[in-house]
Amino acid sequence: MHWVWTTIIIAVIVLAWVAYDVLQKKHAILHNFPIIGHFRYWLEAIGPELRQYIVTNNDEERPFSRDQRRWVYASSKKDNNYFGFGTDNELESSPNYLIIRHSAFPLSDPLPGEDDFDPNHSAACKKVMGATQGRAKAFRPDSIVNISAMSFGSLSAPAIEALNRGAALAGCLHNTGEGGVSPYHGKGGELIWQIGTGYFGCRTADGRFDIAQFRDVVQSHPIRAIEIKLSQGAKPGRGGLLPAAKISPEISRIRGVPMGKDCASPASHREFSGVDSMLDFVERLAQESGLPVGIKSAVGQMDFWYDLAGQIHETGRSVDFVTIDGGEGGTGAAPLVFSDHVAMPFKLGMSSVYRIFRDAELHENIVFIGSGKLGFPHSALLAFGLGCDMINVGREAMLSIGCIQAQRCHTGHCPAGIATQNRWLMGGLDPTDKSHRFANYVVTLRKELLQLGRACGVPHPCDVELKHFDILSDAFGTTSAKELFGYRWASNA
Ligand SMILES: Cc1cc2nc3c(=O)[nH]c(=O)nc-3n(C[C@H](O)[C@H](O)[C@H](O)COP(=O)(O)O)c2cc1C
Repeated sequence: MHWVWTTIIIAVIVLAWVAYDVLQKKHAILHNFPIIGHFRYWLEAIGPELRQYIVTNNDEERPFSRDQRRWVYASSKKDNNYFGFGTDNELESSPNYLIIRHSAFPLSDPLPGEDDFDPNHSAACKKVMGATQGRAKAFRPDSIVNISAMSFGSLSAPAIEALNRGAALAGCLHNTGEGGVSPYHGKGGELIWQIGTGYFGCRTADGRFDIAQFRDVVQSHPIRAIEIKLSQGAKPGRGGLLPAAKISPEISRIRGVPMGKDCASPASHREFSGVDSMLDFVERLAQESGLPVGIKSAVGQMDFWYDLAGQIHETGRSVDFVTIDGGEGGTGAAPLVFSDHVAMPFKLGMSSVYRIFRDAELHENIVFIGSGKLGFPHSALLAFGLGCDMINVGREAMLSIGCIQAQRCHTGHCPAGIATQNRWLMGGLDPTDKSHRFANYVVTLRKELLQLGRACGVPHPCDVELKHFDILSDAFGTTSAKELFGYRWASNA
């Protein structure tokens, strides 16, 4: 008889445990994988010690190392994000290692005369986007850190909602990605609407651009700017790709595409075929909406950029912003060879493009935005030194809302409920709780950027220049970043 009672008691405990895991709202992994999900947390807790002796070190995993992920997780939970005992990086035997040159007389934080403690650690863009071209709705973005393009479809509804609510809390902009504007983008955060080659949300039945729908969408949503997507770093030369497994009835309706087969956007735009017609398209969208209009591109053949700067100079038509995405950038799904080998990495791409616009003296007229693993204080600061006015964060934003770098975005089986349309998996992601995590991460990143800038002796992170950086080489050498990236002007600005 005893064994019957023992079995009943064990069954009740297991069921209660399952119910608790499923109903709690803090951890998507536990909701989606009751009981066994705890193993992840147990292993995570003892993992560093295990891995330290058996598998990888703190700086080894890719795309994001354990140190980087730990910093994002701790920042997003407002936990202690400090590291003890000193760096475990090999400074002297790591060529290309970045060194930030601090000032002997750092500025105080907050600056004298600055209001007392600002819990949001606000850092607005130094330029007014759209001002040079006199766009009716030119504006100064409130944050130098914003959310990179990631579509509804590629990401789940609760993930988009968490990011959009988080954008409102942190006072930053939320780029929709090329999948159109969804109801989950309407939770308080302001938007940059990205328009890709599929023209989702402003598309005729045969896949061309539809100006009437464009006007309607702009008028009915809090859209602050339009980004025309030429390419992204992880798959330049290929259009967007949403695998069939991720196309729900809702996504099929929002995008105007059939279910059951991959949704592949064309490789290039049908509304323009060169720089001249692209600038016409930019002006058309800007005149129709009054909004600033920019482009997003990875950097490949340079004749495009020379041509663009040349035509802006000669004709007066211009993009209001340029988003440069590095080849190391992320994606929901892409052929490996495109992710691994096509397009320049961010630092090379950004510096090559910026030099062209700087030489043409157009650099002050355009807002430069960078992306490609820039969601960390040191890499973001270097991006500002290279001439960026703002940076976008994609996968780092995903980490902040619970991504565990499972790298399964392309399968639709994201265990954290972020890059999936599976109801069970996304049911574990509480958008309200996670919105705070994202906002905490952005605020912490801005805080550390302000601190870094002031350690270099400048009040705003975008005031840093390449003279504030050195790159270590082998044989105990060092090269100034200014020399390395070919910035030959007295100052970057
Ligand atoms: C899941 C996912 C979906 C993405 N979707 C888009 C997209 O719709 N349009 C786009 O231009 N870039 C897209 N990207 C690229 C990001 O916007 C960003 O440029 C890239 O990931 C580099 O930033 P990161 O290193 O901070 O992630 C996507 C990236 C990820 C991870």
